[in-house]
Amino acid sequence: MKKDTIKIGLLGMGTVGSGVVKILTGNSENIGHKLGVGLEIKRIAVRDLEKPRAVEVDPALLTDNPDHVLLDPEIDIVVETMGGIETARQAITRALENGKFVVTANKDLMAHHGVELLSIAKTQGRSIFYEASVGGGIPLIRPLKYCLAANRIKKFMGIINGTTNYILTQMSAAGKEFAEALAEAQAQGFAEADPSSDIEGRDAAYKLSILASLSFASQIKIDDVYVEGITDVKLRDIHYAQELGYAVKLLAIGEEAAEGLKLHVHPTLIPLEHPLAAVQNEFNALFIEGDAVGEVMFYGRGAGSLPTGSAVCADVMDAARVLKNEIENGVLEATFTEKPVIPMEEQHSRFYLRLKAVDEPGVFGKLATVFGDAAVSLDRIIQKRSVEGTAEIVLVTHDVKEGRFREALNVLREMPAIRSINSVLRVVE
Ligand code: NAP
Ligand code: HSE
Repeated sequence: MKKDTIKIGLLGMGTVGSGVVKILTGNSENIGHKLGVGLEIKRIAVRDLEKPRAVEVDPALLTDNPDHVLLDPEIDIVVETMGGIETARQAITRALENGKFVVTANKDLMAHHGVELLSIAKTQGRSIFYEASVGGGIPLIRPLKYCLAANRIKKFMGIINGTTNYILTQMSAAGKEFAEALAEAQAQGFAEADPSSDIEGRDAAYKLSILASLSFASQIKIDDVYVEGITDVKLRDIHYAQELGYAVKLLAIGEEAAEGLKLHVHPTLIPLEHPLAAVQNEFNALFIEGDAVGEVMFYGRGAGSLPTGSAVCADVMDAARVLKNEIENGVLEATFTEKPVIPMEEQHSRFYLRLKAVDEPGVFGKLATVFGDAAVSLDRIIQKRSVEGTAEIVLVTHDVKEGRFREALNVLREMPAIRSINSVLRVVE
């Protein structure tokens, strides 16, 4: 059954949903021309009908009852931009069971229930498109699923959270305090409804698990991703890092080694001359290393209304192509098996450490002995000016097994000469 117009229902019209409405209405002629079929927004479910909207819509389209989208037989494609996990999971399940294609920007949901939802889609002969769930407007899901599919992906590394990159940029470039920079990121619509997901690294971990699943053809349990956020990164760490020749970035790293997968998200010192150090504000960037293609870099706006809307609308167009040509879109991710994940203590890294110690002769020697006993070799060690008998010491280690470094830290914590361990960050070269 060929259609002249494909009808779309939206669940949510906040930051992303408004971008979707703006693009689908503003570019409708262009989109229709490319598809050979028109797209029409039939219904939009929101929570609060009285709330002012960033984009003007016919009030008759709005409803506060998601069933008006999910049960409407004329709606072919449901776009979920509500966020959250359980309500979205139930809504998407019902949409698929009612024969609709689904587009979502929801990484929390895909990281927790992607396999389950993709399986339901497969059973129903439908698909879930989720390009916007990682990297905002940057194409990452399709390149991994299709363009780079013939490669064995060895490693990926990048910045995949716009809010934290905005905060770290504003702290380092403008000397802003964390709270002020976070408030700006929220005002610009980059942050999640609960911004702790961004600043504690969970948002990046959800995205990493989606990327890792596609890169390494493995089902990833979100609890297998090691996560540290940026809440403990202080302005002085950013300044000391700069003095040492590094920028501080929240990096997501996935790697397949012979023994298993390495999956981690944490604030990281990265050399100032590395391309990732130049990625500013809400921009994201990802390096992917394939055995055939070599290194590929993706860069662009990782959050925000129109950039994310761009990816959602491209997915809507893909779903429309499938509907128009009545071909089934294969779903492969649900069939992946699980590969082992290597615990952090077994992995290697360089470390940046900031601590406070009593300013007296022999403290440097004691520090060196503790690290030497744990076979941790030091690359740099700097003592900052002493204040009231307390010296601030900053050091960078050579590459070391994380477990060994942690052992040395535990010994340091027990030493009377060490007043506090203030910051521990990983370093990549
Ligand atoms: P948002 O601004 O908070 O918008 C959420 C929308 O969903 C609002 O319109 C809200 O209605 C509606 N909504 C929430 N619960 C609902 C319910 N139970 N029934 C009906 N409508 C409901 O969120 P957002 O920033 O657009 O993010 C949406 C999703 O996109 C999230 O999964 C997020 O992780 C993802 N994402 C966001 C970005 C970004 O840059 N913001 C980028 C990529 C992906 P009201 O307007 O009436 O409150
Ligand atoms: N809160 C997310 C971020 C939105 O800041 O990257 C894009 O996924």
